[in-house]
Amino acid sequence: MLKTLNLKQLRLLEAVDRLGNLTLAAKELNLSQPAVSIQMKGLEEAVGVALIEKINKRIFLTAAGQKTLSAAKDILERINSLGIEIEEMGEEIAGPLDIAIVTSAKYVLPHYLGEFIRTYPKVHPRLTVTNKASVIEAMANYKHDLYITGQLPEEIGVQAYPFLDNMLEVTAAPSHLLVGKNNIPLKALANERFLVREPGSGTRMLIEKMFVSAGIPITPYMELGSDAAITNGVIAGLGISVLSIHNLKYETASNAITTLDVTGFPLRRPWFVAHSNRKQLSMAPNAFLQFLLSHKDVKKAHQLA
Ligand code: PGA
Repeated sequence: MLKTLNLKQLRLLEAVDRLGNLTLAAKELNLSQPAVSIQMKGLEEAVGVALIEKINKRIFLTAAGQKTLSAAKDILERINSLGIEIEEMGEEIAGPLDIAIVTSAKYVLPHYLGEFIRTYPKVHPRLTVTNKASVIEAMANYKHDLYITGQLPEEIGVQAYPFLDNMLEVTAAPSHLLVGKNNIPLKALANERFLVREPGSGTRMLIEKMFVSAGIPITPYMELGSDAAITNGVIAGLGISVLSIHNLKYETASNAITTLDVTGFPLRRPWFVAHSNRKQLSMAPNAFLQFLLSHKDVKKAHQLA
């Protein structure tokens, strides 16, 4: 029985008993009608006897169903309290949390970190902001606990999980001649003055690749070592640039900078949280990893449509 029985089936049995109806149970559990029938059949097969019966359109549990329900309630309750116990262990999560992040994520990640530290105030975070090439080099040398990057190394063993989409847009000063035009073809940008990041930037690499494969190699007009400097260059009308829109909330809200409607944009690509396969994560980094992967509220607030 233990080999095939699963928690979904137990939750279903509990819901069917409470609601007296398979359709309502399916709705509550976000399952389709056929999925519910399959789960119930699976549970009955696992237990080896009928667990439900229909009397006057209402579903009732058989005697074996009642026994199974009682065990299901115990198990589900035990799992529920395990969740609470784990949450309460939060107070004990403490110590250093050393993260290296790519520049493109530097506005987003502090929001997650702030929320995390409110829950676990004894954790001491250290954030290194650098570009993709340096993040990958640090990974190879096991320098930090966690890494946030949009591009993963092929040659280094890492565990990586996507946790948020980075969205890149072509940005320009509001006075730029292409502002307001729709579906601007990529080739219309060929003669624009491009402000680009330093070599080693993953954003730069991605954009160069995109233009080269479209047959429009761009010549950088100016190279700037930080996206904040690029943002100011764009605002000042020095040129256009492809930037992560997450980092431009205030500039777009105040109309200091705007995005151009270029075909193929926004580019959407995930940021990954990664750690080395070889390094055992201690409590604080592990808790932050889990937090990033599960903290929907922060995620929603920073996930652009
Ligand atoms: P970067 O970021 O341009 O700061 O190197 C690249 C990325 O998002 O992976």
